[in-house]
Amino acid sequence: MMRRREFVQKGIIGAGALLFGQWSKLAADSAGVGSRIEVLPNEPLGIISPNIYGHFAENLSGVVYDGMWVGENSKVPNIHGVRKELVDEIRKIKPAVVRFPGGCFADSYDWKDGIGPAEKRPRRTNFWAEGERPDASASHKYDPNQFGTNEFVRFCKLVEAEPYLAANVRSLPAEDFYRWVEYCNSPAGSTTLAETRAAAGSPEPFNVRYWGVGNESWGCGGNFTPQEYAVEFRRYATWVPEYGQKLSFIASGASDDNWSWTRGFFEEILRKGKEQLRSIYGIALHYYTWNLSRGATKDWVKGKGDALQFDAVDWYELMREGDVMESLIKGHWQVMAEADPEHLVKLVVDEWGPWYRPGSEATPGDQLEQMPTLRDAVLSGMTLDIFNRHPEKVAMANCAQLINCLNSLYLAHEDKFCVTPVGHVFAMYAGHQGGKALRTIFSAPNVSYDRDGKAASFWGLNGAASLQDKQLVLTVVNPDITVGRETEIGVRGASIRSGSVTTLTHSDIHAHNTFEQRSVVTPQTKALEKSGRTVTYTFPPASVTKLTLALE
Ligand code: AHR
Repeated sequence: MMRRREFVQKGIIGAGALLFGQWSKLAADSAGVGSRIEVLPNEPLGIISPNIYGHFAENLSGVVYDGMWVGENSKVPNIHGVRKELVDEIRKIKPAVVRFPGGCFADSYDWKDGIGPAEKRPRRTNFWAEGERPDASASHKYDPNQFGTNEFVRFCKLVEAEPYLAANVRSLPAEDFYRWVEYCNSPAGSTTLAETRAAAGSPEPFNVRYWGVGNESWGCGGNFTPQEYAVEFRRYATWVPEYGQKLSFIASGASDDNWSWTRGFFEEILRKGKEQLRSIYGIALHYYTWNLSRGATKDWVKGKGDALQFDAVDWYELMREGDVMESLIKGHWQVMAEADPEHLVKLVVDEWGPWYRPGSEATPGDQLEQMPTLRDAVLSGMTLDIFNRHPEKVAMANCAQLINCLNSLYLAHEDKFCVTPVGHVFAMYAGHQGGKALRTIFSAPNVSYDRDGKAASFWGLNGAASLQDKQLVLTVVNPDITVGRETEIGVRGASIRSGSVTTLTHSDIHAHNTFEQRSVVTPQTKALEKSGRTVTYTFPPASVTKLTLALE
C-alpha cells in the first residue's frame, strides 16, 4: 500500500431560467426546487487575495517545453519564445501569481544553469526523467535550460502575473538562495549578478517578492523531519538582502492532513522566539484529489480513477474528496494557532487539483498530463469557492498545473492549443479577485447516491459571494448530475438592480475540449433583463455558475 507522501519520498518515481420576484421564504424540498441563497453584506469575511487565483508551472514533461516555451525560432507563433496563444488566453483570467520551477523539480534545480547566453547553458537530467517514456522529447528528460529565470520573469510580465520562485533546499546551500535573490533583485549596475542580468537584456531588477524555501521537504525536497526542516528554513531565511523589495518567504508545508508536520515545524521555529514568525509569509499546503476508490484503499496508485472513464459515483466521490480541502484549511489553521495565535503566518495552498491515473493525455507520453472534463471544472469551481470563503486564512493558492499537467487550464502540443473547462472556470471567477467576501447561506436539498450499496450524500449547492463597490459576484456549484436547482437568491438589506449570469455545463458529464473540438465546453452568458429585490435562477445539473449582480 502506498500513500502519496511515501511515493514522493521515494524521489521519483444549458443554462437555466431566470425569474424575478419578491423575497419569500421557500422551504427546501427534494424535488429540485425550493433552494435558497442568501448573501449577508453585513457579515464580511475578509478581502479575497488575488493571489488565490494563482498558478503553478513546473519544469515537468510538457509543461515548459512544448507547453509554455516553443523557442524563438519555432513556427508556432511566439513572443520571444513563449507560446503566443497561451499568453493571449492567460491574460484573460488575470493570473495574479505563477509558481516556478517546481514542485519536486525545484529541489534539483540550479538556477545558475538557466541564466546567461542560451547556447552556453548546460543540459541537465530532469528530476522527472525516469518517468518519461523512451520516445519522449529529449527536452523532457534532459533539461536544455532554455527557459530559465529571465524567460520565466518575461513570461510573468507578459501575462501580468507576479513570479513566485521556489528555491532548492535539498541540494544547494543557502548561499545559492540569496545569490538567486541577488540576481533577481539587486539594483541595476550594483552587483556582478545585476550586470549578468543586464547582459541578458534586463538591467532593471525583477523585484521578485515571493520565494518558496524548498518544496515538499518531508519527501522529494529532502526527506526532512519537520524539526529538521524548520532549522533549515531559519538558516535560509535569516540573511537575504531585500534591495528595497519586501520578500515573502513561503515555508514548505504539509500534504493533506499531516498535522504533525505543521505542528512540528512551528514548534521548532518558536524555539528561537516568537519574532521568528515574522520571517514567514505563509506555510504551504498541498492537497490533490486522487482517491476514487470509494474507501477501498489508500494506495496512491491503486486508489486513482480515470479522467475520462467514470460513472456517477466517481463524479460524486471526486466532489467529496475535493470538499475535504475546506476541513484541511480549517484544521491546519487551528494547528497553526497553537504557535501563532495572532495568525501572522497564512496558508499558501500552492498545489491543488485532481490527479488521475495515466492514460488520458492529449499528447500521448506527456507525463502527469490528463484530460480535464466538466467534472474537473466543477471541482475547480468548488475549490476556488472554498478559498473565497476563507480569505483571512488563504493568502495564495496555485492550481497544479497551468498547462499540459494535472488540472491543466490549457493543453498544447506543437501548433495545437485549447482552453480546458478548468481554464474557463478561472475566467469566470476572476471577478472575485480583491473583492470583499461575504458570508452566504446556501440552503438546498442534499444529493443522495448509492456508494457501493451504502447510502451517501453530498451538499446540493455551495459557492461564494464577494462585493466590490455595488457589484456582487456570486459563484455557485451544482454538483447534482441530474437535478437542476431552482433557487431564490437574495441579498439581505439590498435590492438587485440588474445583472448577468454565466454558466458552464454540458449534457454529458464527461464533456471536454480537445485540439480538434476546442469549444465543446464553453461558458454561456446572458443578461438579466429586469430588476427586483431577488432573483430566481435554476442552476443546471453539473454546473458552475457566476452571477454578476448590480445592487442598489
Ligand atoms: O505537481 C506534481 C508534483 O506533485 C509536484 O512536483 C510535487 O510537489 C507534488 O508531489
